[in-house]
Amino acid sequence: MLSSNDVLLELVRVQKSFLDGETSSGARRTILGGIDLEVHAGALMAIVGASGAGKSTLLSVMSGLDVVFDGEVRLNGRAIKAMSDDERARLRNEAFGFVFQSFHLLEHLTVAQNVALPLWLVKRSAKSSKRATDDETDRIREVLDRVGLGDVSPSASVRRLSGGERQRVAMARAIVHRPHILFADEPTGNLDDATSALVISVLDDLRRRGSAPSDRGTHGDGGTHGDRGKHADRSKDADRGALGDGGMHGDRGALGDGGMHGDRGAPGEHSVRCAVVVATHDPRLARRCDRVLRLEKGRLEEVAGDALRDALAD
Ligand SMILES: Nc1ncnc2c1ncn2[C@@H]1O[C@H](COP(=O)(O)OP(=O)(O)O)[C@@H](O)[C@H]1O
Ligand SMILES: [Mg+2]
Repeated sequence: MLSSNDVLLELVRVQKSFLDGETSSGARRTILGGIDLEVHAGALMAIVGASGAGKSTLLSVMSGLDVVFDGEVRLNGRAIKAMSDDERARLRNEAFGFVFQSFHLLEHLTVAQNVALPLWLVKRSAKSSKRATDDETDRIREVLDRVGLGDVSPSASVRRLSGGERQRVAMARAIVHRPHILFADEPTGNLDDATSALVISVLDDLRRRGSAPSDRGTHGDGGTHGDRGKHADRSKDADRGALGDGGMHGDRGALGDGGMHGDRGAPGEHSVRCAVVVATHDPRLARRCDRVLRLEKGRLEEVAGDALRDALAD
């Protein structure tokens, strides 16, 4: 059973409108018309709706990219709008991961450098070099494995990769810093069937096992556990920074290892409970989600039962 502790992110009467570009009257068009929503740890949630309905706008608001709205968005009880710009930037870098339809990889960097970007952003204020530490190298390998890129050389240029491989690099980058919430905007939008299926299974796996490293992975015991201390320290610092004391790791114990998250790979220090929120048109992805919400005319409605089957018909 979910307790209120499980609410990672909460939207309260969120409203947003844009000047209507189609009229010259200066009228505003409501895109988000008072949205209430809770995102729980372990959720895999789909926002569906016609093109232009406001799905990307909603993700921007949920993830603190856009703070020009009425109402409240709270992360672990803290209002995102009340944070300073720095705090919010840190929050995005540390607590959130992002995957976009168009990858946003840096072309002049290697696979490993692209994946490592969030790690470098997190420690940018520490005068650390841009060379990956052993820890980071392990972690990069671990996430590349997890997205099915174990065979691609981390030192390869991303220029040489196919579209499907690029999206997998983007997924690896989105989870390397072990975010609490992954936002994915049309993550299967440009992909062939096989790559879409892989992206979907990575998202599903993330929700089930969190963004922690895998015990099943090839780097299991030797790699990831050996340097547990350092990872734990970093993630504690991250909590203090972005999430405040008693942040999201604090209530990890509440569900324990045996409960509904018992199938998650590595409990304990490494376990970071994760929610995944996707905006998608893809019925294959929406079908794998445990909640599907349709955004239409500024309202968000749970779609279930027959309506869900109809909405998700290919
Ligand atoms: N910065 C903006 N200024 C004005 N209108 C915008 C802006 N961003 C988005 N819109 C409008 O808001 C609506 C929702 O856009 P979007 O969130 O991208 O929809 P979706 O992701 O569902 O396709 C669209 O009509 C779009 O043109
Ligand atoms: Mg969009």
